[in-house]
Amino acid sequence: MSVLDITQIRSQFPILEEQVNGKKLVYFDNAATTQKPLKVIQALSDYYGHYNANIHRGIHFLAEKATMAFEDTRNSLKDFINAGKKEEIIFTYGTTDSINLVAQTYGRKFLKEGDEIIISNLEHHSNIVPWQMLCEEKGCILKVIPIDEKGDLRLDIFDELLSEKTKLVSVVHVSNALGTINPVEYIIQKAHDFGAKVLIDGAQASSHLTIDVQALDADFYVFSAHKFYGPTGMGVLYGKEDILNSMPPYRGGGEMIKEVSFEKTTYNELPYKFEAGTPNIADVVAVKYAIDFINEIGKENMAQYENELLVYASNKLAAIEGLKIVGEAKQKVSVLSFVIDGIHPQDIGVILDQQGIAVRTGHHCTQPLMKTLNILGTARASFAVYNTFEEIDRLAFGIEKVKKMVL
Ligand SMILES: Cc1ncc(COP(=O)(O)O)c(C=O)c1O
Repeated sequence: MSVLDITQIRSQFPILEEQVNGKKLVYFDNAATTQKPLKVIQALSDYYGHYNANIHRGIHFLAEKATMAFEDTRNSLKDFINAGKKEEIIFTYGTTDSINLVAQTYGRKFLKEGDEIIISNLEHHSNIVPWQMLCEEKGCILKVIPIDEKGDLRLDIFDELLSEKTKLVSVVHVSNALGTINPVEYIIQKAHDFGAKVLIDGAQASSHLTIDVQALDADFYVFSAHKFYGPTGMGVLYGKEDILNSMPPYRGGGEMIKEVSFEKTTYNELPYKFEAGTPNIADVVAVKYAIDFINEIGKENMAQYENELLVYASNKLAAIEGLKIVGEAKQKVSVLSFVIDGIHPQDIGVILDQQGIAVRTGHHCTQPLMKTLNILGTARASFAVYNTFEEIDRLAFGIEKVKKMVL
């Protein structure tokens, strides 16, 4: 059993004391966004209350303090994913923004007609649409790794899809809809055998798994702060230094330049070459505190506890007549998608909400996956480190109530 003091952890999240529809909130929508601990909320207010200033190039006290805090987060993120250098950490607005950056810079420069990009059937729309846009523009071909009936990738078919034409493989580390943990080490190694570059969408992995981009040998690794207890509007693009250096800039403007004249502009060094304009300073500063929160608990401890929650919830929900768990991959994080015979997922969500229980319902931005599974959508309960077994009991009780009301 987990050694964590969950009461103490919960006390760091003021939102967990909220009442919803007259009931104490049960927040099970963590795969959409996690709640924020006090130290993250405090960091935002400290920045605005005590050292708000634009960063870099400032010589006054506040500007230097803000710049140091901003760059401290870069160092924390470097350690968080074990990147080799802090210059390989590019601040973006989120996973979606990071993938678009790679598609529009690396993709537009290096991919040409007939080249192939491999994604998977588990992808979030963010890791589908940017590649479709690129394929439309450049005449590239998008190939898709299918899944088996449990929600695991068909690696045998992945092996067959790979060829000399494969230039890029872009796959999700952890599925937001089913919780599947993909064997990204294998995928990266195989893709590299064919000379293809690999992007890993780590949006869901960041809060559950220990990430080591050097051990993985990922070329790009992207994620969003709001999925790991940090603020919204802040994300990361990790890229290998030589690859980032070979890419043209994304957005033009202040900060990303070395020198500007009307005849010619030269660009800044990494990471600033990809960080045009005034960034989201307060949110970047606060991300360091989200990482501190995770490190104080320890990722392994978190993963162990969340897995206990997953096993408990899976057993409890599987015992409910008419309920089917969607996604039973060999390795999963604490994401539990389910459907109930004869009940629309949205009705499940609405009636649970009346009981103060927040789950997500619908296609989870994975419409092609829902089509493959031949369902409209699911109800999804996703657990974070502050959730409890009692809350899962409330969910099971709530689902019985949904059945009574609808069937
Ligand atoms: C697997 C996955 N990829 C990408 C995204 C997009 O992240 P963001 O909306 O923070 O850009 C999400 C968000 O739900 C996700 O779960």
